[in-house]
Amino acid sequence: MIILAIETSCDETAIAVLEIKGQNFKVLANLVSSQINIHKKYGGVVPEVAARKHLENILPLLDKALKQAKIKPKEIDIIGVVNGPGLITSLIVGIETAKTLSLVWQKPLIAVNHIKAHILANLLKGEQGKLQEIKFPALCLVVSGGHTSLVLLKDLHNFKTIGQTRDDAVGEAFDKVAKILGLGYPGGPIIAKQAENADKDYFKLPRPMINSADFDFSFSGLKTAVKYEWEKIKFKDNEAIRNMAASFQQACIDVLISKTIATAQKYKVKSVLLGGGVSANKELRQQLELAVEQLKNTKFYQPDLHLTTDNALMVAVAAFFEAQKGLAKFKNNWTKVKVDPNLEL
Ligand code: KG4
Ligand code: ZN
Repeated sequence: MIILAIETSCDETAIAVLEIKGQNFKVLANLVSSQINIHKKYGGVVPEVAARKHLENILPLLDKALKQAKIKPKEIDIIGVVNGPGLITSLIVGIETAKTLSLVWQKPLIAVNHIKAHILANLLKGEQGKLQEIKFPALCLVVSGGHTSLVLLKDLHNFKTIGQTRDDAVGEAFDKVAKILGLGYPGGPIIAKQAENADKDYFKLPRPMINSADFDFSFSGLKTAVKYEWEKIKFKDNEAIRNMAASFQQACIDVLISKTIATAQKYKVKSVLLGGGVSANKELRQQLELAVEQLKNTKFYQPDLHLTTDNALMVAVAAFFEAQKGLAKFKNNWTKVKVDPNLEL
């Protein structure tokens, strides 16, 4: 099966072509056109600008992807596209493009949930090979700019959110703390870089909800604690910035790991997965891996680094599993697929 996938939920225009035969996959193209340099000067994504850039980018990117994959439209079996959650003006560009292609090329159109795609990115390791085999039940910690949640998977078709942030997403907190410290956008990679070899115990920051009996998170209080601590500092030099970045990053990681491990134990899961843009964070990857190793009979999975932030390959693999429900279900689907900025799992 050859899958063409499109992702435009935020500020990356992404198109991928993936081939799956039985359990074997091969990446034929995986292109991401990032708008970071455009949104940087505003300190965050400007939805209207993002949508206009998607419009400019999407057809040239599609052309490039098909050439790179060396395929003709008639060889495509299904088209997958993210229909939510995300920015409505951005999502519409991907959806309308996918619908048009589906109508003109007469291909089944499969709508994919962005969060599900982040989770299923764990199935792809490298450019080709066998899809990862995951033992169920599995638990995924989803950490991105818009989401922080714990998702229980009964199998590759049954996803249930059992806990989530009550305010800011953890990626959002990284972005806001970077702003407080006078660093650039997006904050995640910059904070991670500043935190390298710095003193993570230098500032005493709270670990919100670390011992709460539920599976929810909260990061807005932690961000505010950073703001107040930072206002107290007289010499805001590089060392102070680095120590604050490390202290904040560790506070986030402590809460994320503690909650994930407690949930994994409670639900007796056989696998723990990580997904979303913040899963690019090396400290989080390493520390969570060590924590999961302490659990008996539980395997840890994390997406390849280039599949952590938004991309269309994760959408292709999610569309593939959706297609297992029978392609007839998706014929002429272009008339039915709708954007849902608040789409739930
Ligand atoms: O999944 P993603 O690309 O977009 C959303 O679906 O939101 O996630 C983007 C988020 C941003 O908040 C960014 O700061 C964060 O992921 N991020 C990181 C790192 N790389 C990206 N956060 C922490 N450490 C990183 N290395
Ligand atoms: Zn994302």
